[in-house]
Amino acid sequence: MGEYNIRKIELFSKNGKSRGFYDLANQLNDLTGKEWVFSTKSVIPKGYPPSFKLKLRNKHGGQKPPELCESLISTFTKEGDFVLDPFCGVGGTLIGCHLSNRIGVGVEINKDWIDIYHNICDLESIEPQEMIHGDSRGILRNLIEKNKKKFDFILTDIPYWKMDVVEKSKGTYKKVGEDSKGIYSEKSKLSRFSRDSKYLERTKEDWESLVNDVFSDCFSLLKPGSYCAVFIGNMYYKGRYFLLNADIARILSQIGFILKGEIIWYDVNKKLHLYGISYSWIPSIVHQFIMIFRKERTIKLSKGEKEIIQANNLNRTKNKTSFKN
Ligand SMILES: C[S@@+](CC[C@H](N)C(=O)[O-])C[C@H]1O[C@@H](n2cnc3c(N)ncnc32)[C@H](O)[C@@H]1O
Repeated sequence: MGEYNIRKIELFSKNGKSRGFYDLANQLNDLTGKEWVFSTKSVIPKGYPPSFKLKLRNKHGGQKPPELCESLISTFTKEGDFVLDPFCGVGGTLIGCHLSNRIGVGVEINKDWIDIYHNICDLESIEPQEMIHGDSRGILRNLIEKNKKKFDFILTDIPYWKMDVVEKSKGTYKKVGEDSKGIYSEKSKLSRFSRDSKYLERTKEDWESLVNDVFSDCFSLLKPGSYCAVFIGNMYYKGRYFLLNADIARILSQIGFILKGEIIWYDVNKKLHLYGISYSWIPSIVHQFIMIFRKERTIKLSKGEKEIIQANNLNRTKNKTSFKN
């Protein structure tokens, strides 16, 4: 194993710029040291371009930028790894897998979103990743029972419960003497997840139970030592602020995941909305959380397993003189 006297390799981007040094003992990803340091930032203050047929993806309303998904996937996996999204909508995670050369599996209960994902793949000439139609509660159980696949990363974005059915409308702040409407106006003509409403959980308790069921199965499907990242936005509703990220942290910790941190995605493109001006202070929420969990290893990697990782890393860097920037 003389080759392993080499410990670090300098990598270059396609335009010949140095990406920094890659540690062949890297157990998690394909990032160089300086890229790794950058990936640990706890705030991402960034808007994303209207890529991958955004107009089509916008029909969903809760879609995530594929480029943001790509960067999370690149942080928590290596090329060729398996990524699961149990609530995959119009496929932000799956397009992120395409961009980063990973293998994605998504589950989505609403066929309309699956059709849109396939339509985008056609229009963009992308090979579609595996998208399974159905309720994650049954589908994941099935995957566990078949014992077919274990995943290297879970990246997902959780649906809300019925209070999210009606879309916030601009300028629906309350008039003198009116009751607070909350940020989701019943009078709104728009309906963000209206096509999803029949699939949404009825109450917050039902929602917690869905989260518990799906992430218990995710825990079984995740390889030891691997990570799980969950998008979640906190909410202001009917005069109260809900710390949904705290709920997610509590439920996933009870399952056995270890909370490792939170990344705040500040979407600099997000417009401010006017609520309650002159009457009450209501936040214009322009950020979301990406909660990072890990399924810890119960047994440390053996020397042999570490050597296999090094050999695979060396092969990958040999085959590619430069990785994507
Ligand atoms: C917040 S969206 C995810 C959006 C996604 N990140 C994207 O980029 O398009 C959550 C999705 O979960 C789906 N969903 C809700 N309950 C589900 C269940 N039990 N099983 C599978 N999918 C479900 C909804 O239809 C919705 O599309």
